[in-house]
Amino acid sequence: MPAILTPVKTREDLLFEDSLRPQKFEHFIGQENIKTNLKIFIEAARRRNEHLDHVLLYGPPGLGKTSLAYLIARELGVGIKPTSGPVIEKAGDLSAILTSLQEKEILFIDEIHRLHPSLEEILYSAMEDFSLDVIIGQGPGARSHKLKIKKFTLVGATTRAGKITAPLRSRFGIVHRLDYYQVEDLKKIIMRSAGILKVKVQEDGAEEIARRSRGTPRIANRLLRRVRDFAEVKGNGIIDGKIARHALDQMEVDALGLDDVDRKILYTILENFHGGPVGINTIAAAIDEEKETIESIYEPYLMRLGFLERTLRGRKLTEKAYRHLGFKPPERHQKKLF
Ligand SMILES: Nc1ncnc2c1ncn2[C@@H]1O[C@H](COP(=O)(O)OP(=O)(O)OP(=O)(O)O)[C@@H](O)[C@H]1O
Ligand SMILES: [Mg+2]
Repeated sequence: MPAILTPVKTREDLLFEDSLRPQKFEHFIGQENIKTNLKIFIEAARRRNEHLDHVLLYGPPGLGKTSLAYLIARELGVGIKPTSGPVIEKAGDLSAILTSLQEKEILFIDEIHRLHPSLEEILYSAMEDFSLDVIIGQGPGARSHKLKIKKFTLVGATTRAGKITAPLRSRFGIVHRLDYYQVEDLKKIIMRSAGILKVKVQEDGAEEIARRSRGTPRIANRLLRRVRDFAEVKGNGIIDGKIARHALDQMEVDALGLDDVDRKILYTILENFHGGPVGINTIAAAIDEEKETIESIYEPYLMRLGFLERTLRGRKLTEKAYRHLGFKPPERHQKKLF
């Protein structure tokens, strides 16, 4: 995927993400249902002066999982210790983090699906009884001892909910899936970011960028920065609909935010597999992309657009996809009446 449309953090995004990250719930736009629920649970925990129940956030990259984790900590008025699944290598590392936590503090484990399975066991007792099993001594005299830790809140984030084991998942009391954003919400996010970055953007300009951002705030913020470059060099510095369209077309971001790989996936299913159903491995091999990438990045957005359908026998193009590609959908087999 050209970097411009990848939902995955690029090095350039890192430079801006801190300044653009919402610092209050009011600035976190959209995902109303999740916000409403979280606010209630946070308020309840505060009133009882207790730790918040463990929270699992999942959904495609760039939709705001990390932002929410930080917002939860801020709203609770507690500290947050961030780490990530692949970074924790040994049981000792995880135990050290867990014993260092203060009462009610947040332990944020990003990419929690990549945590080593042998470490999950440690998390179970930590999450459930706030204790760690430590072995004291060696050989036949060794004894297991339960070490109490402070009552903390684990916030886990993952782009691959299916990769989380059932026992781990069941230990989260609050589970939320972040969904792609509506154009209206992305527009608000773009206007807010433009304010912070001191970019002049008009409504129609923001809307044009929003439409092509694949429902993803991170992409919206990135496109805003790129379109600004065009507006400054080719225009008068103000982003309106016209310059936004010109810039985005120039960068080969289509009207729905589809790129080359999306189109390759759709055309391959259409031309090589008669519209499907076809297995994901076959698609991956045919277009020479990794199956993981297709499953976590391309497919969810194509399904969201209603272009792709998942069936037991594989992926299928919808009538909508045929029309978007400029083809006539195949005649449906007439239902036999007798
Ligand atoms: N609801 C929102 N309102 C405003 N800005 C948002 C929102 N969600 C995300 N953003 C913006 O998008 C950027 C990326 O969000 P964030 O890093 O929280 O995504 P993520 O889900 O953790 O992604 P990843 O899976 O790659 O870790 C943030 O820096 C922020 O600027
Ligand atoms: Mg994140």
